[in-house]
This record gives sequence, C-alpha cells and structure tokens, in this order.
Amino acid sequence: ALRWLGALLLSITLAAPALAAGKHLINGIDANYPPFAYVDETGKPAGFDVDSMNWIAKKMGFTVEHKPMDWDGIIPALLAKKIDMVCSGMSISPERKAQANFSDPYWTIRKIFITKKGSKVTEDQIYNGKIKLGVQRGTNEHEMLQKAQAEKKYNYQLRFYDSGPMAIEDLLNGRIDAIGLDAAPAEDAMRKGKPVQEVGVFGSDEFGVAIRKDDAETMKLVNEGYKLLKADPYWKELQAKYLGN
Ligand code: ARG
Repeated sequence: ALRWLGALLLSITLAAPALAAGKHLINGIDANYPPFAYVDETGKPAGFDVDSMNWIAKKMGFTVEHKPMDWDGIIPALLAKKIDMVCSGMSISPERKAQANFSDPYWTIRKIFITKKGSKVTEDQIYNGKIKLGVQRGTNEHEMLQKAQAEKKYNYQLRFYDSGPMAIEDLLNGRIDAIGLDAAPAEDAMRKGKPVQEVGVFGSDEFGVAIRKDDAETMKLVNEGYKLLKADPYWKELQAKYLGN
C-alpha cells in the first residue's frame, strides 16, 4: 500500500503546473523581426512569439519579460544567463544546437527570394550570381546559402546585412537586386505596403525556443506550454492576427 501511495503522490506532483510557481523568466527578443517580435507604437513588445510566450507563461504559472537585444548577441546573452530563453523567430540549426538546446519545433517556415515589385530578376539569375543577393548575417538563411555555394551547387553573389529591415531598404534603393529570407517577415512587409514580390523558394526550416543545455526545468515548461497552446483556439487566433492565415 505504501508503494501505491508513493506512485499516487508522484503522479500528482508531475501533473501540477504549480511547478513553476513564482518563476520569472526573461525572453531575449530581436525587436526588429515582425511579425514574430517587435515593439509596438506604445513601446511594448509584441508579435506572434511574444503573445505565444505570454499565453504559455500564464498557463504554466510563471511570469515572462521580453528583453529586446541585438540578434548577434542573443545566444551569448543566453549562455551568460542574462536571459533564460530565446523565443524570437529563431530557427533550429546544427550550429546553434551545438550551443543550446531547442524546444520542440513550433513553426515551419519557407525561405524565399524577394525582389522589388515589377523587377525582371529571375530565380536563375539569383542562383547564377548574375545579380546581388542580400541576406541577414548570422541567420540560418546565411548558413544555407553559403553552404550551397561552398558545395558549388550555386554561385550566389552575396551581400551581408545586420538586420532584415536594412536589407529591404537597400533592395528598394536598388543597391541589391534580391534578398533571401524567412517568408513571414517578407509577407508582413508586403501587407504593410512595401513594394516587394516573391520570386522563388530555396528551402525551409523550423522555429524553436533556445534554452540553456543545463536548464531542463524551463525546457519542460516551454514544451508543455506549446502543447497546450497548440490545442487551444488562441493558436489559430494568433496566426490570423500576425501571419495572415
Ligand atoms: N529564422 C532565421 C534564423 O533564425 C532568421 C532570423 C532573423 N532575425 C531575427 N531577428 N529573428 O536564422
């Protein structure tokens, strides 16, 4: 009977979301990445990932604070324990997995080429390096394009940018002819009236939440939280609000 009682107590403990009671977690975001993370007109962090994590925190019983920082410094900040997670349009990649763990994937995203609206630039010209192709430095797109080039699959003429919006600026100015990037931010720019168009697809990957390798507790909260979120009507609402689908 004692063993039975022990099993019962154990199952109660495991089922209790009170596991997280009082926990305060800091999410590092790159606020230059709408529709996943940005700062709204009132200066408040917003976006698909920000709202997702707010919902998860409430459900799982922790508080979350979204801290805007440079994309370049975001993994170093995680490793230095300045933040507890990165839920900010971050792709799961082999390079990053060597440094941190990732939650279960929560979103699949296409990698697309865009040009200025009305431009005659073709996908072939991009692959053959006939035109200048911009990409954000340190992204998985950067990694993917460079790998294809190293393998001599394609001969891209790459130009590197510190942020996505800066690349779009240069595309519209005519300093570059195309950009390789995540589909959702490009579609977001189109919805906001930026004169750009999609001309091809060069791959896809999955977004996950980066968490320190020694932090199994946060990992559990985040994975449990996404399971609940994905089963809730709010998940569809978020997609309609931020991703236009
Ligand atoms: N999803 C891509 C990656 O993780 C692009 C991210 C670009 N920037 C950002 N702030 N989320 O590499």
